[in-house]
Amino acid sequence: MTSEQARESTAKQFIDKETAICIAENIGTPVYVYREDLLRANAQAVLNFPNAFGFTPRYAMKANSNGTILRLFNQMGLQIDASSHYEVMRAMMAGIPAEQIQLTAQLIPRGKKLEELITMGVRINACSLSQLEDIGKVTPGSEISVRINPGTGSGHCNRTNTGHERSSFGIWYDLVPKIKEIAGRYGLRISRMHTHIGSGSDPQIWKDVAKLSLGWATEFPDVQTLNLGGGFKVGRMPGEKTTDLQDCGQTIRDEFIDFYQSTGRQLHLEIEPGTYLVANAGAVLSRVEDVVSTDIWDFLKIDTGMTELTRISMYGAQHPITIIPKDNSPRRQADYIVVGKCCETGDTMTPEPGNPEESVSRNMLQARRGDLVIIGGAGAYCASMSTKNYNSFPEAPEVLIGVDGKVDLIREREELSELLRHEKVPERFIR
Ligand SMILES: Cc1ncc(COP(=O)(O)O)c(C=O)c1O
Repeated sequence: MTSEQARESTAKQFIDKETAICIAENIGTPVYVYREDLLRANAQAVLNFPNAFGFTPRYAMKANSNGTILRLFNQMGLQIDASSHYEVMRAMMAGIPAEQIQLTAQLIPRGKKLEELITMGVRINACSLSQLEDIGKVTPGSEISVRINPGTGSGHCNRTNTGHERSSFGIWYDLVPKIKEIAGRYGLRISRMHTHIGSGSDPQIWKDVAKLSLGWATEFPDVQTLNLGGGFKVGRMPGEKTTDLQDCGQTIRDEFIDFYQSTGRQLHLEIEPGTYLVANAGAVLSRVEDVVSTDIWDFLKIDTGMTELTRISMYGAQHPITIIPKDNSPRRQADYIVVGKCCETGDTMTPEPGNPEESVSRNMLQARRGDLVIIGGAGAYCASMSTKNYNSFPEAPEVLIGVDGKVDLIREREELSELLRHEKVPERFIR
């Protein structure tokens, strides 16, 4: 089987032709499609993460913040990693108790609002010395968490690596004495510690940093919980490896036992994956709108693009693309550059791997106008991280295929009027 055939069979397994046609006819395209059985299987794999002395998995909801998905994961026992106080509110609106939400954010509210969050039970993870001060000011004497930038990181590209000296995420590891000084000044008890090295990380670097993190935990005798972040890489394209959670967990379990033997402290483990839970449980269903050619390339223009799949133009991320022919006419294989619908040269769906400045053609089934197209691996950082409303395209809807095959709409397509609802027109422009 060629890699292209493998890719097609993966996408075919994701959704069969009849279901794809049914969704396209009833909901329209583009549309995000998620599969409940895969979401549940991924959640179960996370819940099975090996651990020595207790374990709390958090779902990094930035990956996909749809309320149905939040509810599904929470019902299965996952708690929440939120990246803004708005995400905190959104999780609470989905019925998730405040105590099950940890806020790890570049920007946290200050003063009264911060106090309110803490009083509600939201766990705040101090990601800078100033945040630590802010927490100390509103709730002196409280128990808190600190995020350390471990100085070593890894991501699927440079821009998703959060563990190095050019990254602003977390408190630089050399500043541990400063953390102690501020905590001491406000009587804060550091009972939780957190590191996160990036998204799409190399499992070996994740393990190395987990060991480093245990080293910092020895510096803080009150630490009872160590959160080792998310970042577990998943293979979207054929040949790309998905992180073996059992292997990572087993290594760390042994390290926690060693830590206990040398310190007498039994640390509770937390992890907070986003990508792992949702990436391959989602796809964008789209349609071929046009086929155009220059002297050198044939292009497929499809009705999705950077509006639904920003990470492709942003990172040069690679996503599998599969044509579902609208008819049964014989088709050969063909090479195409696939482009999105936006009036933007950079709206390409087939960037060159490692070089988002260039596009490369991909070999796929010959396509015709009206065929359906599935862009796979689109459950994470797509609906939640889209270039919403560029060219005034309304936001795409989301559907969930249940374990029984029933399709539920879990977010409606936006109306044009909703794009305009916050605009104000001064009197003199009204005629
Ligand atoms: C603090 C934190 N935790 C967890 C995650 C989830 O990462 P991933 O989706 O790669 O698992 C992120 C994403 O960058 C993050 O910043």
